[in-house]
Amino acid sequence: MKERERYRIKDLLGAEAIVGSDVVVKGWVRTKRGNKNIAFLAVNDGSVIHSLQIVVDAVKLDKELKQITTGSCIAVAGKLVKSDGQGQNVEVQAASIVLYGAADPGSYPLQKKGHTLEFLREIAHLRPRTNTFGAVFRIRHAMAFAIHKYFNDHGFFYLHTPIITGSDAEGAGAMFHVTAFELDRIPLNAAGKPDYTQDFFGRSANLTVSGQLEGELGAMALGKIYTFGPTFRAENSNTPRHLSEFWMIEPEMAFYEIADNMDTAEDFLKYLIRYALENCSSDLEFLADMYDKELIERLKSITENDFVRLAYTEGIKILEQSGQPFEFPVGWGVDLQSEHERYLVEKHFKRPVILTDYPREIKAFYMKQNDDGKTVRAMDVLFPKIGEIIGGSQREDDYDKLKTRMKELNLSEKDMWWYLETRKFGTAPHSGFGLGFERLLLFVTGMANIRDVIPFPRTPKNAEF
Ligand code: 4AD
Ligand code: MG
Repeated sequence: MKERERYRIKDLLGAEAIVGSDVVVKGWVRTKRGNKNIAFLAVNDGSVIHSLQIVVDAVKLDKELKQITTGSCIAVAGKLVKSDGQGQNVEVQAASIVLYGAADPGSYPLQKKGHTLEFLREIAHLRPRTNTFGAVFRIRHAMAFAIHKYFNDHGFFYLHTPIITGSDAEGAGAMFHVTAFELDRIPLNAAGKPDYTQDFFGRSANLTVSGQLEGELGAMALGKIYTFGPTFRAENSNTPRHLSEFWMIEPEMAFYEIADNMDTAEDFLKYLIRYALENCSSDLEFLADMYDKELIERLKSITENDFVRLAYTEGIKILEQSGQPFEFPVGWGVDLQSEHERYLVEKHFKRPVILTDYPREIKAFYMKQNDDGKTVRAMDVLFPKIGEIIGGSQREDDYDKLKTRMKELNLSEKDMWWYLETRKFGTAPHSGFGLGFERLLLFVTGMANIRDVIPFPRTPKNAEF
């Protein structure tokens, strides 16, 4: 059966106009039921959450039917007809069936519905075949597409920043080393340390924690750029919101100050959520039904309300006066924990909050210093159920101030000369932020664990697939 004659099930469901036509469909059998005269197969091809009902003459296609069980992959040729069945308007009457691949009922793990998400994580190679992960990964695709569309429509250029980097100065987290040394035969220098001059790149190298620093170089030439790629953090944080490998979207804009940066972040997030509501409705409805009854209302409320904009200092006052028994005590100068962020968003304001002007000591070296000498022009966007979804700032564009701050933090000017040169030659005010793609997906899908919104999660002690 020719692939070019195949219909995607998404296109067939609701295609009353071609009822009566001969069609070919291919996909994986979700269920098989019936009696000795007639069988009903629910076939899913991944194009949409719904399966298509195939009606089979159990006498005529007896031989084929015997080999078909849950999980088998088949191709069906037959006639598209109107269906009286519940929840479907068309079905296919099979004229012939080709079995591509059987799935032994004794060992195929997805025999029944209702597996736990924890169990499905252990079979990450098969979980895309469940309704839940089909829905999540289709939404993941739609969000990636919408991100590129948003930036393209707004005059941003997609800049590919390196995954292997020689700089480790972002300070965003512990890094994974990249080396071609044989680990049991590392050449040492006079000080007894690895001699990286003999390594592949002639220097020590790491997997990037962020594309920002290189992104800034692009913005200082192309005006508005964004990166969208994998980033890596070797921290031992085993939480439902942290991955060791996650995807980040990092726009960087020349001439933008902090208020412009906040406007962009808010508009961007609202656009993405609106896009999901408009383009992923059947998957969202399924997930809402299964996991999170308030999902769609919550998504709508984001698009309908302005985000609160609040200085860190004011946020701390609210938290101190809240009377809440926080696990981690609050006070000016502390880094906010997600319990604090969620209190502000979910209890106090009941809408997203953009918190700005954090103490310089708890933020990265590159953030623009305020005149008070204590705070920097940072902005974190805090979301219900998630906490921090975006981190960003206006960047320090003053050469001397940046150099002084780097010295204070013992960051090597020798390694970062190229970054400093953007401030030496034609510097300009500029800003940017980073959106954690999987944090966005947690919010949009309503899933509770970040391991369930990326096909193959990388977390401490887990990289099997
Ligand atoms: O706040 P972060 O560390 O900011 C940066 O990396 C900046 N260079 C961004 C910029 O200004 N261009 O990370 C940005 C976002 C966080 O708000 C969060 O959504 C996500 O990345 N994130 C993670 N997501 C999953 N797992 C982790 N371990 C994450 N760490 C950060
Ligand atoms: Mg952050």
